[in-house]
Parts: sequence; structure tokens; C-alpha cells
Amino acid sequence: MSTEIEYKPGLEDVPAAKSAVSFLDGKKAVLEYRGIPVEVLAKESSFEEVSWLLIKGDLPTQKQLAEFDHDLRQRRAIHFRLKDLIKCMPADGHPMDALHASVAALGMFYPCHTVTDPAKNWDASCRLIAALPTVVAAFARTRRGEEIIDPRSDLDHAANFYYMLFGKEPSPATRKVLDACLILHAEHQMNASTFTARVTGSTLASPYQTIASAIGSLSGPLHGGANEEALRQFEEIGGPEKVKPWIEAKRAADPKYKVMGLGHRVYKVKDARATVLQEIAEHVFAETSRPKAYETALEVERICAGIYGPKGIYPNVDFYSGVVYQSLGIPTDVFTPIFAIARVSGWLAHWTEQLVGNRIFRPEQISIGKTDVKYVPLEQRA
Ligand code: COA
Repeated sequence: MSTEIEYKPGLEDVPAAKSAVSFLDGKKAVLEYRGIPVEVLAKESSFEEVSWLLIKGDLPTQKQLAEFDHDLRQRRAIHFRLKDLIKCMPADGHPMDALHASVAALGMFYPCHTVTDPAKNWDASCRLIAALPTVVAAFARTRRGEEIIDPRSDLDHAANFYYMLFGKEPSPATRKVLDACLILHAEHQMNASTFTARVTGSTLASPYQTIASAIGSLSGPLHGGANEEALRQFEEIGGPEKVKPWIEAKRAADPKYKVMGLGHRVYKVKDARATVLQEIAEHVFAETSRPKAYETALEVERICAGIYGPKGIYPNVDFYSGVVYQSLGIPTDVFTPIFAIARVSGWLAHWTEQLVGNRIFRPEQISIGKTDVKYVPLEQRA
């Protein structure tokens, strides 16, 4: 392999696929799902409709949406043995690990070994979208010693998830912000977990293995874990009046200190998803009051705009989503699983697209190791 090929760490700017699922212009903060701006979808649509849009390519008709919604509701319940498996998981384990293991196990209860039948692939896609909230809520409850709450088929996707977590229905404002969060996190082009899904999918692995791989990729703090870290950071700061000394101290200790929730490989302006999420979240804050962490976050954004703005470093969606989830009473370590509940639709859209004219991923490497090394038998090594 010649070292003349340019190596791009993180594959920055290297296209990994041709995709029609979403469009992103990081300089103008434009994000469209199948051509429709994500802000419009967050306000006007539902997560169910957006899932169809992403996977099928167009908005559903009324009949298609009603049938899809029915199919999802039918697939929310999980096998009792999977519930038993979840109950056996360590209570102090991370919910992303529980989700990862449960999704792989889901594929054993509802096998889809070959990916050549579009009807079976669609069935598996519906089951994955429908069952992820059930799995996340089940582990969130059993680890606290609480009974698992079975899904209800008379509630929509977001309301049912809230109900399975807390045993009560959400207020209309809470349901709306949760639904909007799912829409805003559903798809985001060729990010690490989507790339992972496409790579695993390209081996013709089952959809369950494909989604389990993507969940593993999402679990890292530079990807899905960022909102968890961002919220911890706001709590560590302790209030808006403490932001300035906090950032000064951090930068003095490490000039390259990274503020969590800021910056994005693609966005060089404020993430449009953060802006619309703030707008919708105000309806929830109106029912209670603005959380202290939110006031702190606003001040971090204001001060950091002056410091990092010239470098194109602004809040991404994770800067605010953690604060919103906390205001709904959702435990911090369940934030990333909620990201997975949303992103599963994007992953499945990319998987579906990948399978058309599929070619297995097998990139090149620039070899920098030794070659032609003589094997020395163990007894001759000092
Ligand atoms: N706070 C302060 N400075 C930051 C920053 C942040 N959150 N993110 C990037 N920068 C700075 C870097 O120090 C670097 O500065 P330099 O040019 O002087 O060396 C420059 O911006 C480019 O950063 P880099 O890490 O090369 O960008 P990237 O595209 O590789 O990384 C992220 C993108 C998202 C991984 C990175 O911005 C980050 O770690 N953010 C915090 C974690 C986060 O919010 N992740 C969620 C992403 S959705």
C-alpha cells in the first residue's frame, strides 16, 4: 500500500456513501429529512410519521400512517423471557449496555437472519422502532426495584414511552417536547453510529445486529453521551453567575479544554435543532419554572459565543437536550438510550438504503508497521 494516498483522520470530508435520507448544510444550520426542514417536522409532525418518512422516502398517506402506527403499537410488547433477561442485568450497569444486549437478544426472539425479503425487513424495522422504548423503560424500572410497566396501545409512541417509565401519562407539553426530541434526534447524516450501522449492514448482518452495533457506537461520550456530560457540566458550574470564573479556570488549566455540548464536526453555526428544542421546551418550563441548569446553559452559550464563536464552535443539540430530559424527571444515564430510541429510525433508513446495490465496506489502511520480521521461538527470547 502506497503512503502517497492522503490519510484523513476520522475520515473527515471523505464520502462513505451516497444517501438521500437527509441533507445537512453545517454553515447555514440547515438539516432536512428527505428534503423537509427538521424544525418544521419537530413542530408539525410526529415521531411515527418521521420514521416512515425517513425509511420509506416520502410522507405517508393517512391510510399508510394509520396502518404503520397500528403495526408499531402491536410490536411494543417484548417477550416475557426478554423481560426476565433484563431483570437479571446488574442494577448498576449502564442502560446503554442493557439496551445493546437487549437488542441483540430481541433478534433471537424475532429472527430475521436473511435480509433479502423486504417484507421481513420492514417487519423487523417496525419491531425495532416499537420495542426500543419498552426495553429502555423496563431496565430503567427494574434496576430501581420497580415492576416493569407493559406498553399501552392507546397511547402514541412518545406518550407510551413516558407512561412505561413513570406509570402516568405525560402532560400535553411534556408529550410534545418528548416527541420533538425524538424527531430532532432521528437522523443526522453520516455520523459515527450511522456509519457503523451501514458498515454492519453491508455484511448482510441481521437488522438486530446492525442496530446493536450502532448502539455500541452511540454509547461513547463524543457521540451520544454528550448531553449527559453537558448536564453534569452545568450542575458542576452551579449557576449562571459562576460560569465566567468556571470557564476562566478551565481554560487556564488547559487552553484546549472542551466545553461539553459545544462544537460539531459539520456545524459551524448554532445547530438548528438546539434552537427549535429551546422553543418547544419553553412550554414545559412554563408548567414548572426554568431549571437552574437551563439558566446556566444559557449563560455558558452567551460567554462561549465570544470565546469560541470565531472558530465556529456553537451549541449542538446535546447542549440543551439533557437539561430538557432532566426537567421531565428522566435519569441522566437514560438520555443516551433515548437518543437511540430516536436514532433507530435514521439507522434503519440508512440500512434500507445500504442494502440496495450493497457492497461490503472494506476501506484501505496506510501500513506503518514493521514487515518481514523473523519469528523467534519463545525459548530463545530473553
Ligand atoms: N470546546 C472548546 N473548544 C472546542 C470544542 C469545545 N467543545 N470543540 C472543538 N473545539 C476547538 C478545538 O480545541 C480545536 O481548536 P484548535 O483549532 O485551536 O486546535 C477546534 O475547535 C476544532 O476541534 P476538533 O476537536 O478538531 O473538532 P472535531 O470536528 O474533531 O470534533 C467534536 C467535533 C464534536 C468531537 C468536538 O467539538 C467536541 O469534542 N465537542 C464536545 C463534545 C460534544 O458536544 N459532542 C457532541 C457532538 S454531537
